[in-house]
Amino acid sequence: MAAPDVTIYEVGPRDGLQNEPETVPTAAKLELIQRLGLAGLRRIEATSFVSPRWIPQLADAADLAGILPALPDVVYSALVPNPKGYERFREAGGIQVAACFISASETHNRKNVNCSVDEQIERIRPVAERCREDRVPLRSYVSTVCGCPYEGAVSLDAVVALVAKLLALGIEEISLGDTIGVGHPGQVRELVAAVAAETSLERIALHMHDTYGRALANVQSGYEAGVRIFDTSLGGLGGCPYAPGASGNVATEDVVDLFERAGIETGVDLDALVDTTAWLERAVLQRPLPGRVYRARLGAREHARGRESA
Ligand code: HMG
Ligand code: MG
Repeated sequence: MAAPDVTIYEVGPRDGLQNEPETVPTAAKLELIQRLGLAGLRRIEATSFVSPRWIPQLADAADLAGILPALPDVVYSALVPNPKGYERFREAGGIQVAACFISASETHNRKNVNCSVDEQIERIRPVAERCREDRVPLRSYVSTVCGCPYEGAVSLDAVVALVAKLLALGIEEISLGDTIGVGHPGQVRELVAAVAAETSLERIALHMHDTYGRALANVQSGYEAGVRIFDTSLGGLGGCPYAPGASGNVATEDVVDLFERAGIETGVDLDALVDTTAWLERAVLQRPLPGRVYRARLGAREHARGRESA
């Protein structure tokens, strides 16, 4: 099968489920991930090797990693905040890509990982060294690139300087996170242009949250600026536990539909994805998920069923 034109990087099992009030059982996480893989998602962030005291929802990371299905072309990743997390990730096996994270603003970084930005760089450094020795691909998130829930505006220079530091550590892919969804398309265009001066855009992903309803516009702006990797979450599931008021990531269905309608291939089967989100909503979470294309597709299905039975 030819490679799709864009990479949809599914973060629902991690960014979504880390934020659920109730911990989802491991068996349901496994089924979710399997369904996502079968729907054509090729990169799936499965879980986090963070402190179970901080994120109890993902305390089963090692158990889940040990039973993840080997699906053709599917690459799994997991969050790794520090060397301890990397040891747990390696011991568990089953996940190919490690993903560390750091914020462009001091206060969010402290709330999220309990240290300064410089200290977090020093925690990432040995993880990057180990990844190089072990030939494990390493991604890093940079959070709060468009604004911080505690400090407000975040300067473009601070983001670019942090991206440069991470690149110098040998990190292969950097995902720029609009953690609280305050970014706007012009800001994203400027951000991508500034980062493109540091590295090839093949190594840059956009991770947009939809708090203010602009995530899809920001994705479009990022695409036009040359980005080809987009982090999304099925049904718009998620948020950030250390960013008050942050809503979910841009919905996978919305991004897939946006691209496919423009003739840009994602490799994702939208019908199978809608089935997966409907299953998650009804069988696991028992609450409605907000994704717009998801809700529209469900509505259209119900309408068609009503006409058939009339
Ligand atoms: P800390 O308390 O400062 O850690 O937490 P510490 O080094 O002082 O250790 C304290 C205890 O935690 C020790 O245990 C360590 O062994 C243990 P004790 O001796 O007390 O029994 N510990 C660990 N246990 C398991 N796994 C580990 C680990 N590390 C230490 N990896 C730490 C520091 C980073 C661990 C903590 O702050 C943490 O886990 N934070 C994670 C927060 C998080 O997961 N946030 C959400 C993900 S980020 C996000 O959503 C944003 C993103 O989507 C992008 C965007 O939207 O912007 C990625
Ligand atoms: Mg996020």
